[in-house]
Amino acid sequence: MLRRSFLAAFAAAALAAGSVPATAQETVKIGLIIPLTGPFTTTGKQLEAAAKLYMQQNGTTVAGKKVELIVRDDAGRAENTARIASELIQNDKVSFIAGFGLTPLAMATAQIATNAKVPMVVMMAGTSIITERSPYIVRTSFTLGQSAVIIADWAAQSKIKKVVTMVTDYAPGHDAEKSFVDQFKAKGGEVVESIRVPIQNPDFAPFLQRVLDQKPDALYVFTPSGVGAILMKQFVERGLDKSGIRLIGTGDITDDDVLPGFGDAAIGVVTAHNYSTDHPSAKNKDYVAAFRKANPGMRPNFASVGGYDGIHLIYEALKKTGGKTDGDALLAAMKGMKWESPRGPISIDPETRDIVQTIYIRKVEKKNGELYNVEFASFPDVKDPVKAAKK
Ligand code: PHB
Repeated sequence: MLRRSFLAAFAAAALAAGSVPATAQETVKIGLIIPLTGPFTTTGKQLEAAAKLYMQQNGTTVAGKKVELIVRDDAGRAENTARIASELIQNDKVSFIAGFGLTPLAMATAQIATNAKVPMVVMMAGTSIITERSPYIVRTSFTLGQSAVIIADWAAQSKIKKVVTMVTDYAPGHDAEKSFVDQFKAKGGEVVESIRVPIQNPDFAPFLQRVLDQKPDALYVFTPSGVGAILMKQFVERGLDKSGIRLIGTGDITDDDVLPGFGDAAIGVVTAHNYSTDHPSAKNKDYVAAFRKANPGMRPNFASVGGYDGIHLIYEALKKTGGKTDGDALLAAMKGMKWESPRGPISIDPETRDIVQTIYIRKVEKKNGELYNVEFASFPDVKDPVKAAKK
């Protein structure tokens, strides 16, 4: 009896003082599931570096709780992503799952988030449909349609009349193709052919030969992050850089992570996207400097801002719930959130849980001896056009 009342009194005093030390149960865990091996390693590295940078800059105590990041490699394979997500939720008791470097990885995991009522923050994958697969999904990356529609408008206004499209043959490529083709045709353009290239061991060369023979005004391309390096090499090898056929696309093809290795043939490539290392805001200059300092030899690309903003969204949601980790409360906190990202102003659409952001048109230029995507036009508050068209 005595002992019990002593313990009760002690607990009450500690509570009243508001000074209960952080214990194991009070740690909020975030499971970051990303490709750190395999063909999409660069995406995983960018996401991890940015998530860690955010935590280093903002501390690891949020709303009185200790925040811990658990990083797991899925090698870019959907069966791994889903299994790791289940393990993290059941064994490690994570309160968030985050990452998702490719669309199939996010799709394979959506049902797990729904069943467990755990918020799932999509930091990279860009197919429109993903956010409709679970009410617990929130996206901090982009959708392909956002960039495709903007570059289609630009092409139609830039005396580009005939285009061949070439996309990687999986869901985001299909979105990138459809959004471009529909918009470009609506603006009076002609699409001569639409080519799809396999995602495994992509070889663009035979397709590029065909494009050379067709002589369109421009070749519009989507490839997932990193793969643009192979495309650019083959574009030059096949002589397309000297053919007068312009290369345009979503910004995935001139990914800032691999762009420095492209060579001068990339100068003049015009793309539309949500982020450039060269984005001239004060916030981005600080971000790029801090990222480079923490990760020598790397420069932040569009994957990185998805990771950085994804952790920001998690931190701010926890602040709003007072540290409570109830999935529904966290989702409610995330909906409608607005902030300034290194990419510019962004928000989470409260209806769709998808990202709303500025899309920039950029041209590859050399600055201080390095290639950059230099922004020359911007379109604020762009929502996913694929969802908008369904309404
Ligand atoms: C995707 O799989 O959704 C994806 C991956 C990389 C990109 C764009 C989309 O650059």
